[in-house]
Amino acid sequence: MLETLKYLIGSAGPSGYGSKSTAEQVTDNCVDLRTSTAIITGATSGIGAETARVLAKRGVRLVIPARNLKAAEETKARITSEFPDSKIIVMRLDLSSLKSVRSFVSDFEALDLPLNLLINNAGKFAHDHGISEDGIEMTFATNYLGHFLLTKLLLKKMIATAKSTGVQGRIVNVSSGIHTWFSGDLIGSLGQLTRDKSHYDATRAYAISKLANVLHTKELARRLQEMDCNVTVNCVHPGIVRTRLTREHEGFITDFVFFVTSKLLKTIPQAAATTCYVATNQKLENVSGKYFSDCNEASNSEMGCNRKEAARLWSFSEIMVSTNWKDVFAPFR
Ligand SMILES: NC(=O)c1ccc[n+]([C@@H]2O[C@H](COP(=O)([O-])OP(=O)(O)OC[C@H]3O[C@@H](n4cnc5c(N)ncnc54)[C@H](OP(=O)(O)O)[C@@H]3O)[C@@H](O)[C@H]2O)c1
Repeated sequence: MLETLKYLIGSAGPSGYGSKSTAEQVTDNCVDLRTSTAIITGATSGIGAETARVLAKRGVRLVIPARNLKAAEETKARITSEFPDSKIIVMRLDLSSLKSVRSFVSDFEALDLPLNLLINNAGKFAHDHGISEDGIEMTFATNYLGHFLLTKLLLKKMIATAKSTGVQGRIVNVSSGIHTWFSGDLIGSLGQLTRDKSHYDATRAYAISKLANVLHTKELARRLQEMDCNVTVNCVHPGIVRTRLTREHEGFITDFVFFVTSKLLKTIPQAAATTCYVATNQKLENVSGKYFSDCNEASNSEMGCNRKEAARLWSFSEIMVSTNWKDVFAPFR
């Protein structure tokens, strides 16, 4: 009750920010970011577009990978018309395809740019059951597995950039509070979701993918610490905001739900605040493996803290990105 009240009035937490803080406000006094380079996935609309706009305002060079290059060029044009000095590179990437992820990383490496920030923001909430070209349920393939491979392939570059510049690299995984809606056998449920079209539940698929983002953060943070490299990873819940995420669910029921919950909704600038805070705030130097909401560290579900599940998902993901999925579910049942 008290938490809801705090949320509604936007009272500031220990960070000095709260639910009503905007991305511009939380980056107002940030360190000089003019030598930073960021990759932001899903920057063609919604929270990612605002994250890109505000980081460009603070001087960050942006790489915007997108499956829809026209939409990405429009995002770039909008930002450069507001901030003419912006440095923005648009590149092709479809996160649901492991081949496309590999090809994006090799194109990015060819540019020979540093990489300070990786913001894994793209996401989908698929109304209908779908299977990616690699044979994985589409929501999981897009929201989690594509980002898992992207991060894995870009890590060397991030570690090298942090080493040569002395500036800590940061990875931000955009998850969702909905990750708490799933508990159980993640890999078994993914297998079922992938194979069984008739029992597809869009919210369950989305919750599983977002829990995977949280577990990825946990295990990657542990590994980064073990490697003693100057890169951190954290995940965020941006808050609830009406964006194109629900585009496949448009209709009376969705309108009604958004109407009833309207007092709890954020604006897009507010929803981009937690990502921007975690990506740039100096107080978060060396903070890794944490979950943030409303620009403050928050607790997540018991399952989201489960190190064994995080390690199990990691092993499973390593196999998934290197082989055909049909071979990989069996040992994890
Ligand atoms: N909105 C909310 O209430 C809410 C709440 C909690 C968490 N989130 C999370 O916040 C993040 C941003 O969502 P949003 O609300 O801003 O939604 P959005 O407006 O629909 O933006 C999603 C972005 O992801 C991109 N994307 C989707 N599939 C892709 C693919 N296969 N390859 C590359 N890019 C792809 C979209 O590009 P296209 O233009 O090509 O579709 C778009 O740029 C997501 O991870 C979402 O799960 C949102």
